[in-house]
Amino acid sequence: MSAQSPRQILVTSALPYANGPIHLGHMVEYIQTDIWTRFQKAQGNECIYVCADDAHGTPIMLRAQNEGITPEELIARIAKEHQADFADFNIGFDQYHSTHSEENRELASYIYTQLKEKGHISRQKIKQLYDPEKQMFLPDRFIKGTCPKCKADDQYGDNCEVCGATYSPTELINPKSAVSGATPIEKETEHLFFELAHFEELLKTWTQTPGHLQPQIANKLSEWFETGLRAWDITRDAPYFGFEIPGEPGKYFYVWLDAPVGYMASFKAYCERTGTDFDAYWKPDSKAELYHFIGKDIIYFHALFWPAMLAGAGFRTPNAIFAHGFLTVDGQKMSKSRGTFIMARTYLKHLNPEYLRYYFAGKLSSGIDDIDLNLEDFAQRVNSDLVGKVVNIASRCAGFVKKRFEGKLAPQLSEEGQALYQKAIDAKPKIAELYEKREYAHAMREIMAIADMANEYIDQTAPWVLAKEEGKEAELHDSVSTGINLFRVLMTYLAPVIPATAEKAQAFLNLDNWQWSSINKPLLNHAINKFKPLMTRVEPEKIQQMLDDTQKDLAQQTVVPKQTQTPKGQTAVMDKTEIEPIANEITIEDFMKIDLRVAKIVNAEAVPEANKLLKLTLDIGLGERQVFAGIKSAYEPEQLIGKLTVMVANLKPRKMRFGLSEGMVLAAGPGGKDLYILSPDEGAQPGMRVK
Ligand code: MSP
Ligand code: ZN
Repeated sequence: MSAQSPRQILVTSALPYANGPIHLGHMVEYIQTDIWTRFQKAQGNECIYVCADDAHGTPIMLRAQNEGITPEELIARIAKEHQADFADFNIGFDQYHSTHSEENRELASYIYTQLKEKGHISRQKIKQLYDPEKQMFLPDRFIKGTCPKCKADDQYGDNCEVCGATYSPTELINPKSAVSGATPIEKETEHLFFELAHFEELLKTWTQTPGHLQPQIANKLSEWFETGLRAWDITRDAPYFGFEIPGEPGKYFYVWLDAPVGYMASFKAYCERTGTDFDAYWKPDSKAELYHFIGKDIIYFHALFWPAMLAGAGFRTPNAIFAHGFLTVDGQKMSKSRGTFIMARTYLKHLNPEYLRYYFAGKLSSGIDDIDLNLEDFAQRVNSDLVGKVVNIASRCAGFVKKRFEGKLAPQLSEEGQALYQKAIDAKPKIAELYEKREYAHAMREIMAIADMANEYIDQTAPWVLAKEEGKEAELHDSVSTGINLFRVLMTYLAPVIPATAEKAQAFLNLDNWQWSSINKPLLNHAINKFKPLMTRVEPEKIQQMLDDTQKDLAQQTVVPKQTQTPKGQTAVMDKTEIEPIANEITIEDFMKIDLRVAKIVNAEAVPEANKLLKLTLDIGLGERQVFAGIKSAYEPEQLIGKLTVMVANLKPRKMRFGLSEGMVLAAGPGGKDLYILSPDEGAQPGMRVK
């Protein structure tokens, strides 16, 4: 690789929404990308890493309204917070920008105009639900009502979490606006659509060309081609926080139209700042490489809409899209109720960012499997690998170099020392290939094998013994110089993962870079500096403090739901943990109308015809009630029998296909496995009223 001329590489991570803080789930992506770009730079490649805040859309507009500030004020505040979080995690963006920027307005308008001139934009009158009180059209996620299929209450406007049906919000029974509580009305509006089907051939070729997408994803996409590519609605009506569409007063670009253009806009800002040639990277025959790192929930936008938009507007398409899986904590989706929804800032208050970077590196591969954070394993791995193996090598050798050899490494290494050094260097092409392919976990194993080898060597030569013996100066010097040289190779390999530690090590080793080409020869006769501890062990108390703080943060905070638009009938690869917005205010009188009772579950059985429902028999002191509850995905019936829970006792009975449902039990969570029935504290008796 080093013999070739440097590659020109432009790399992006997905743009985080400006409506909430960065959490550890996000960090999987920024750490994965940052490791890759640092690795590329250490190969001598020209690699530019850009990102930005994704600042548009309804959730941001509404959040600003709730806080009584302008959207501009909100996004300015969040931009600061995001960038502080990223900087403290040592994410080395070359440019961090915003989609609410002049560069982005120009580029998005340009792309749109090009698509329009080439006949790829169509117009269609559509009917959409409209909040007459708030005077705005409602995104699907901001409408709730009864599922038209299974009649479950309180379902979102796009799909039912009880029976899994997907539908359009106009089909909901008794729909209510989640913004104002008003009953939405249907209103006609004219929208602009991007004719994705015009790009069917191009997209088929692009998505199926090996290397562009990971194999699992290319397969998933071929299913989408089978259902046919539908025109994409790129319009939102005022009021909306975004860019007005040129020549279409009152119509705005849907946030997902200008979001990926934000990659270009951020790069544009970089070019203006550094004098880099924008077109050289974006013209159709560009030799520069373009890669997008994203989570698997946003593949549709990046693998279909984005290449089509680029090609349609006369730009190059990406070399590849690298999707990753989702972060789970202790094997489960990050969850507010379990206290595992850990914010980046909360982590940073208690723990060294380098720990997490190494831990994620140890888990990441090129696939889209989820990545699990197990906090015990986290402490154990970091302590044993980074502190126990790598840093230890330097701390075992440094003192002798300083005290006995005036801080200078030996003029040459023994045969054994040279052989070991050679072995460490021989691993370079393999480790480089693993980084290049994003097989970080495998790369970390290879690196730790070298660390093991170095530690064995030090154990065998035992410098602390040599130091006490007479006439063993040369052997001692050789042993510790070999150790330090192996440490240098290891830090070179690890620098993309733990850059801040590498920087400290650079001062210690008296080096000025971590280029991989510079380690072909060992450091001989080289003066090093005083060793200062590079990293301390993970302290379990700090982990506990972080978890305690997380509980506190979560008690204070709500997150507005994310707006992804996966076309109907085409299931998203995955959704992320979402926290619902707080519902509209009610009075105490309203609340008292609800008769909540402690109920004992005396029987629970599956309903064979309904894949989400359990039939519960509840004892509420005053007799038994039968309730159908959509909790089958989270509980085995046997688990529930004998448990106390809370039910709405005065809900009007509802006839369902399988029988009468005489109330509702209370459960929390987004659905699926992530659903928790509420139970009263010990001592409560069936029939007691909950007030
Ligand atoms: N704004 C869009 C992206 C627009 S890109 C043109 C968005 N923002 S996000 O804040 O919701 O997510 C940003 C990135 O973080 C996405 O790639 C997403 O997949 C990733 N992650 C968000 N939560 C995550 C986990 N829990 N785990 C791993 N990655 C996660 O989507
Ligand atoms: Zn349903």
